[in-house]
Amino acid sequence: MSDERIYPVKPEIAASAHFNTEGYRQLYEQSINEPEIFWAEQAGAFLDWQHPWQEVLSYDYPKGEIAWFKGGQLNVSANCLDRHLSLRGDQIAIIWEGDDPDQQQQLTYRELYHQVCKFANVLKAQGVQKGDRVCIYLPMITEAAVVILACARIGAVHSIVFGGFSADALRDRILDADCRVLICADESYRGGKIVHSKLNADKAAAQCPNLQTLIVIEHTGHEIPWQAGRDISYRQAMQAAAAECPAEVMDAEDPLFILYTSGSTGKPKGVLHTTGGYLLYAAMTHKYVFDYQEGDIYWCTADIGWITGHSYVLYGPLCNGATSLMFEGVPTYPSPDRFWQVIDKHQVSIFYTAPTAIRALMAHGEAHVGHTSRQSLRILGSVGEPINPEAWEWYYQVVGNSRCPIVDTWWQTETGGILITPLPGATDLKPGSATLPFFGVQPALLDHDGQILEGPGEGILVLSHPWPGQARTIYGDHARFVDTYFGKYPGYYLAGDGARRDADGYYWITGRIDDVLNVSGHRLGTAEIESALVLHKDVAEAAVVGFPHPIKGQGIYAYVTLNVGVTGTDALKKELAVLVKEEISAIALPDIMQWAAGLPKTRSGKIMRRILRKIAANDFDNLGDISTLADPAVVEDLIAHRLHL
Ligand code: PRX
Repeated sequence: MSDERIYPVKPEIAASAHFNTEGYRQLYEQSINEPEIFWAEQAGAFLDWQHPWQEVLSYDYPKGEIAWFKGGQLNVSANCLDRHLSLRGDQIAIIWEGDDPDQQQQLTYRELYHQVCKFANVLKAQGVQKGDRVCIYLPMITEAAVVILACARIGAVHSIVFGGFSADALRDRILDADCRVLICADESYRGGKIVHSKLNADKAAAQCPNLQTLIVIEHTGHEIPWQAGRDISYRQAMQAAAAECPAEVMDAEDPLFILYTSGSTGKPKGVLHTTGGYLLYAAMTHKYVFDYQEGDIYWCTADIGWITGHSYVLYGPLCNGATSLMFEGVPTYPSPDRFWQVIDKHQVSIFYTAPTAIRALMAHGEAHVGHTSRQSLRILGSVGEPINPEAWEWYYQVVGNSRCPIVDTWWQTETGGILITPLPGATDLKPGSATLPFFGVQPALLDHDGQILEGPGEGILVLSHPWPGQARTIYGDHARFVDTYFGKYPGYYLAGDGARRDADGYYWITGRIDDVLNVSGHRLGTAEIESALVLHKDVAEAAVVGFPHPIKGQGIYAYVTLNVGVTGTDALKKELAVLVKEEISAIALPDIMQWAAGLPKTRSGKIMRRILRKIAANDFDNLGDISTLADPAVVEDLIAHRLHL
């Protein structure tokens, strides 16, 4: 990794940007020295409050207690919709681009507002009340924005499950949050293929005794199975619903949503975000990180099933009154120029995507980019995993014609919004570095003993102070929240990533330091995949690790030990793949499965993942000390049978 190459701030960007270098430096300093004054000013500037807060911040990290703007009252949907009506009621809030390039829709702020009010009444008619959890299992369609904001309007807590997750994964999430209402689509399109959302929803619902209502959005309009008494047609319910729905007055610390994400152990955790701090942080980062200006057409390609979709397709942009583009499809359908075609078609000026998409499109060649204009672009963004300098350069030179700064944004589901990032008018760029902290964010590097590292060096990335967008708990398991994020290094929030800090104070994220994988920007726990594999009757044991993958960033390498007497066959590999797909999702399918006669274990029985990672990475020279293994011979056997992509 080279940190020699520097792309200085472009004067033409700095001239009109919200912050130049000096402006950033000064405000950053204030945000650290006088956090309460700083955040109070921002909260007043970005949000409409129905009742002022009494206390900007109170926190106790060792107890995992964090509260922002206590006593303050507001409603998220009112901030994203109602307050815009007088000024920008007829402005487009959402541009929708279908999987099929001939399909598009536009919704103005007023239209979105009306639909949200109606759907809020639909939810109420189903008995949904403030604090109830509503599960949302939808593709990227405008109705997703409607139902999400409708939940926020009545104070229901949404739990969005990525539409690519299996029925079993959906079931687990419905049960964990005890949702009584599930919202799904009949079907959706992805890359020209049909996704059977309702069939999955039916399968999940059948195993959720407390689930009473399934609201089905007619997207393809095809015939689907129907369970009278439980299933409700979105179209019909909307027709019958009353038009007015006052926004529920919410406390700043009332829950807004739960979003499940993978940890290094156990089942996925329901990360809980609250109302005031989250919205402020999403809106503020959206405006400053992307240098959002009135009139911009803004496109974040993330799915609403992930945190990036929550914060930067919906909440941040809509709170700022922006025009946000929602895309149903995939980057390569009908051809690998789709992103650039959409950018030209809708004159997108800010574009935010993931390194894995860039690498995949890079592999298709420049010709797919060259014939499009992309002149409307001003700012490019990257999120989800470290962007390798080659992909960065291609994004910068080929996609952005060396005109547009790239903001490489580091953050997580738990952080609610972007924490480390360049600001377009303020920060010189280094390909591969997420650069500097956002306002109010105080990163630090620790060594393994928890000692602070000063100056340049590499260590464990932590945050020493809260920011408003920080998660408040894990739903139903506060002890796990405390333990995971605040237990190991008391006084810090532990992000789970490693990082290097260079002589300019720039951060270079080196990747997860735990057993979490980042596959095409999707976060997956090795434990989840292992649990799925060992469900098979022929499997004795499984260990999953990541390995460097040219497109996905990390690929999934599974070592599988079969029961005595069972022979590993391709047919068995297929059965295991089906199992993983059914238990989790196609995104969790191992790229490589190796039959392992045995796994390297310590004498106390702990699997030595470090060794498995090295073997998967083809790095046999630095296996470290293997003499402590119960049976050192297994290592040679694994190396001898190592498989390649
Ligand atoms: O490892 C980091 C990586 O993605 C993890 C968070 O995943 P998730 O909660 O699914 O949220 C993804 C979208 C915010 C982090 O712990 N990550 C995210 N962005 C970057 C990154 N790694 C390096 N550079 C980034 N810009």
